[in-house]
Amino acid sequence: MTPSHDRSRVFINEVAPRDGLQIESRFVPTEEKIQLIDALSQTGLAKIEATSFTSPKAIPNLRDAEAVMQGIGRVPGVGYVALVPNEKGAERALACGVDEINLVLSASDSHGLANLRMTADASLVRFAGIVERVRGSGVFINASISTAFGCPFEGEVPFKRVLAITEKLLALGVEGISLCDTTGMANPRQVADLCREVRSRWPWLPVTLHVHNTRGMGLANALIAWQNGITRFDAALGGLGGCPYAPGATGNVCTEDLVHMFAQMEVETGVDLERLVAVAERLPALVGHDVPGQVVKAGLATRRYPLPSSLSEAT
Ligand code: COA
Ligand code: ZN
Repeated sequence: MTPSHDRSRVFINEVAPRDGLQIESRFVPTEEKIQLIDALSQTGLAKIEATSFTSPKAIPNLRDAEAVMQGIGRVPGVGYVALVPNEKGAERALACGVDEINLVLSASDSHGLANLRMTADASLVRFAGIVERVRGSGVFINASISTAFGCPFEGEVPFKRVLAITEKLLALGVEGISLCDTTGMANPRQVADLCREVRSRWPWLPVTLHVHNTRGMGLANALIAWQNGITRFDAALGGLGGCPYAPGATGNVCTEDLVHMFAQMEVETGVDLERLVAVAERLPALVGHDVPGQVVKAGLATRRYPLPSSLSEAT
């Protein structure tokens, strides 16, 4: 743990409109995406990853990225982020006035080639030009390192590879890093080790943890990252999410479950949980199926039930 780091406040980047909707079998109509993002904007979230500027052939569900970015109401204080894989995506994102570009590359070349048709080195070459173009525009440049904790094709991804990629991204001028557990392979010990290492090498660097709950370890991984100095988290409303080019991928850690955990621990998230839950309750109708989030089903931990009638009559 880094003692100098203030852990009493965490920052949530809501990724359901991007990581969530990209994998749904149903194309969520543009107007419904806009309504979802507008509702999320009223909940106190720090950031919203609203869409991705990718090839419409690769990610057909987000082919309406421009219309979404232009249709949403921007709430001051909320950062609107877009995922970008290449130069064309960066140009499209800049034209829409995003607050943050989230460059994506993969730590494992097998996943990089399946998802982006690029190895990590190829992505890095292309990012150099993008950073050059974006720098000075006021748009924050983050980079997400997919498969940082394991690859569904290759298995283990060595720490030193993730650290080397981080080093190269920072040398290019990238300003923030997200460590992504794309298919829920990370375990808490591994998360603790990598987060500690990254925080001790680059204490000034905004580092975000992006975990999927594929094997039920999402909240455990987020908690241990927080215990090791990470205060920024990607999460998806309802636990939606997944990469269409990573076999076995399922949803992100669920935003309302994560916010609820921190709220119970009296860690400030800035999020109005009841408002967030109200938005999450609308998700099954939006995507056409049940969603994994648990707090919406169970109610908050502050929920109380009447005593069974046998007991209440006896007292
Ligand atoms: N936005 C829109 N169109 C794009 C684009 C972008 N960012 N990048 C490429 N294209 C178009 C090109 O214009 C070209 O169109 P054409 O066939 O009509 O001429 C076509 O896509 C192929 O371009 P190319 O540069 O050869 O790209 P590619 O086919 O090698 O695809 C990516 C590479 C990165 C664009 C594509 O794999 C992609 O979008 N992947 C994103 C995957 C993703 O988001 N996964 C989930 C998140 S981790
Ligand atoms: Zn993801």
